[in-house]
Amino acid sequence: MANMTARKKLVVTGAHGFVAGSILAQAGEEWQVHAISRGEPLARQDNLCWHTFDPLAPEELVQIIRDEGPEVVIHTAALADIDLCQTHPEIARAINVDLTRRVASVCTAAGCKLVFCSTDTIFNGEHAPYNEDDLPGPVNFYAETKVEAEQIVARLGPQAVIARLSLVVGLPVLGAGNSFLARMLAAFIAGRTVAVPGRGQFFSCPHACRLHRRSNRRGAGAGGPHAGGCHHGGPGAAGTGGRQSPRNLSSQRP
Ligand SMILES: NC(=O)c1ccc[n+]([C@@H]2O[C@H](COP(=O)([O-])OP(=O)(O)OC[C@H]3O[C@@H](n4cnc5c(N)ncnc54)[C@H](OP(=O)(O)O)[C@@H]3O)[C@@H](O)[C@H]2O)c1
Repeated sequence: MANMTARKKLVVTGAHGFVAGSILAQAGEEWQVHAISRGEPLARQDNLCWHTFDPLAPEELVQIIRDEGPEVVIHTAALADIDLCQTHPEIARAINVDLTRRVASVCTAAGCKLVFCSTDTIFNGEHAPYNEDDLPGPVNFYAETKVEAEQIVARLGPQAVIARLSLVVGLPVLGAGNSFLARMLAAFIAGRTVAVPGRGQFFSCPHACRLHRRSNRRGAGAGGPHAGGCHHGGPGAAGTGGRQSPRNLSSQRP
């Protein structure tokens, strides 16, 4: 077992979430993980330190990053529900943009790498597949907030990775959160009909959430050499992404 003092430090925001659960589960012994969440601890292991507070109250978040001096911060916390973002734009902006700005600022000051979870829905889906240099064309407020947050994170230059995930298909490993597959199964069990995304849909598998590692062929995890945008979805290869981005997913939600 790795010595505590020899471990690299990793801070993960939004730890009760679906993607964060995968990150926490896949963080190896070489990492000392600091999970930040409004919720109570989901796991107890000696390389996991759980901090329960609301990240929108800035003091604790800033203090943990300053005090711990992590090598990497993976910022997953977001209002990731497209419909909720559309109906609650102030909350969406506060979490997706303002909180990201604060995280980016403290990472800059602390000199640690920031991996920001973005989405392929920043594209309008009309000309998929996309590469990292294609211009975004958001068609809903969620995507607009993510584009704005990406621009903030991009200012960190080589200190940041913008990981554009496609729809992550898997069951929650820890906690619950925004798993399309879990909602779909629940709908089946309840006997409801489910409309699923169709042809041309790109997916990320939960292994794409090993964002603290050299997580794909471009080395675009925190441990890899890549900085800037990187697509983590597609029909098999990294570096593609993009799917239809409806303004409102209500008709597709299980
Ligand atoms: N799931 C996907 O298919 C997918 C696809 C593309 C991109 N992404 C991106 O990946 C990241 C994680 O997504 P996810 O699917 O894991 O979402 P999720 O399950 O909804 O988790 C997001 C987490 O953000 C925090 N959060 C949500 N609302 C908040 C609020 N009002 N105040 C403070 N914190 C709040 C919560 O953390 P706590 O409960 O721990 O406080 C929540 O668990 C997001 O940035 C999302 O845009 C996800």
